[in-house]
Amino acid sequence: MARKFFVGGNWKCNGTTEEVKKIVTMLNDAEVPSEDVVEVVVSPPFVFLPVVKSLLRPDFQVAAQNCWVRKVGAFTGEISAEMLLNLGIPWVILGHSERRSLLNESNEFVGDKVAYALSLGLKVIACIGETLQQRESGSTMAVVAAQTKAIADKVTNWANVVLAYEPVWAIGTGKVATPAQAQDVHRQLRKWVHDNVGAEVADSTRIIYGGSVNGSNCKELAEQPDVDGFLVGGASLKPEFIDIIKSAT
Ligand code: G3P
Repeated sequence: MARKFFVGGNWKCNGTTEEVKKIVTMLNDAEVPSEDVVEVVVSPPFVFLPVVKSLLRPDFQVAAQNCWVRKVGAFTGEISAEMLLNLGIPWVILGHSERRSLLNESNEFVGDKVAYALSLGLKVIACIGETLQQRESGSTMAVVAAQTKAIADKVTNWANVVLAYEPVWAIGTGKVATPAQAQDVHRQLRKWVHDNVGAEVADSTRIIYGGSVNGSNCKELAEQPDVDGFLVGGASLKPEFIDIIKSAT
């Protein structure tokens, strides 16, 4: 099955209203392949979701960078999945390594968040990835398989899931995984899904790469057979994000 290329832009904790509007203008003015070729989803901080949603071109979509694990209620400071749907936000990033490390989000907690978001009809970019110490100790696949299992055990609708492999040692470091490194983990991840979920899901689920992707390294990464796109951090705030979108094969 041909999997539609997917490019996500994770703006992380960045921007002002003025800066966000400039990024949206840059995106709206860009010539990019049609949405039949590439699915583009940008993810601003919560406070800018309404303005980005209102100004962004109709062929691009918007994601939140997180949401709470259950329905609205006495959870001070949290943003619920219901609120995202109320804003017309269709996507949410869950399990990002920065939340796993900074906020101690466990594999099980991420799995529960994925379950609740899917139960309300949100589409999920589910993040996994190993640390440098885990890679150097040879436990990359054990780690990402455990992370993926905790998610897979709770997925009720794989059509609404994109898996994002983001090696922690490549995030924000400029040390992008080599195409061979990315392809190796993506291939093994797809085999894991094949063996533990099923052949059809393995063949249809997009597995995207994140970690220091930029306008120069995206093309070779995009040519890897099991790399179905990207989740881009720093470069998604810059004009080179358009080059990354154009790397869709
Ligand atoms: O979610 C994407 C992000 O973690 C990658 O960040 O800046 O290395 O592209 P960056």
